[in-house]
Amino acid sequence: MNAPALALHGTAHIAGRLVFGPLSLNAPAGCWTCLLGPSGVGKSTILRLFAGLGDGIAFDGALSGAGQVALMAQDDLLLPWLSVLDNVTLGARLRGQAVDGGAALQVLERVGLADRAGDRPGDLSGGQRQRVALARTLTEDRPVVLLDEPFSALDARTRAQMQDLTVELLTGRTVLLVTHDPAEAARLGHVLFILTEDGLQEVPPPDGPIPRPVGDAAVLAAQARLLTHLGAVPVAGAGTRGAAPRAPRDIFPKKEPGAGLPRGRR
Ligand SMILES: Nc1ncnc2c1ncn2[C@@H]1O[C@H](COP(=O)(O)OP(=O)(O)O)[C@@H](O)[C@H]1O
Ligand SMILES: [Mg+2]
Repeated sequence: MNAPALALHGTAHIAGRLVFGPLSLNAPAGCWTCLLGPSGVGKSTILRLFAGLGDGIAFDGALSGAGQVALMAQDDLLLPWLSVLDNVTLGARLRGQAVDGGAALQVLERVGLADRAGDRPGDLSGGQRQRVALARTLTEDRPVVLLDEPFSALDARTRAQMQDLTVELLTGRTVLLVTHDPAEAARLGHVLFILTEDGLQEVPPPDGPIPRPVGDAAVLAAQARLLTHLGAVPVAGAGTRGAAPRAPRDIFPKKEPGAGLPRGRR
């Protein structure tokens, strides 16, 4: 699959209020780029812009790579009057394309919900509904996939399984993942960004192919770097009387640019 890179440079306002920017975000082709940050800083707004759903967003800048995009929104957006299977194939139906029910059922099988294909979304738990929304996104077969907190409602074991499945099924695609979970970002990101009110900061990822082992020392270290930068934990050594605060270059070890990217993409 010939997936494009994504790039966004600019400033966004909603209802006259600054949401973000100016900022520059680049998501390399065929890679997973993770975007973390506190609520309200504009992460979902960025995904909406790439998805061409920017109604109501005043965006001043340039955007590339949008189009041919599948978006899994933060809300599952399942239609309550359709069956689970019909929700999964909704995109093709809306576009007037032939519906491949067999392929959709196979993906439902992989998310563990083949036996619920005929049920209505209202009969499912929150985590099951999120897996239906994930199955719909994975069925879309788009070169660019935008995932807005796609695993947030899942228990730890199911989350790890769905992360593995999503990496497998989206091989070769350009993925932009919004997540609140530093462990998820450290496991899945070839490129890691933190967006705060102060702007966008790139954080070095661990080496190695994704999905990375959760207990891997480099993955845990990247998780700690992300948590530190999010302000969730104090920097080791800071707060000790007389200790000098650590500069960002100490927190984020120097790496070659693109060191976390798959070979051939550096
Ligand atoms: N439809 C809307 N009308 C007014 N404000 C909005 C709307 N959508 C988003 N916002 C505001 O834009 C900001 C960014 O929202 P969002 O992109 O959803 O943040 P995040 O995904 O990082 O939590 C928030 O302050 C939010 O309140
Ligand atoms: Mg959001």
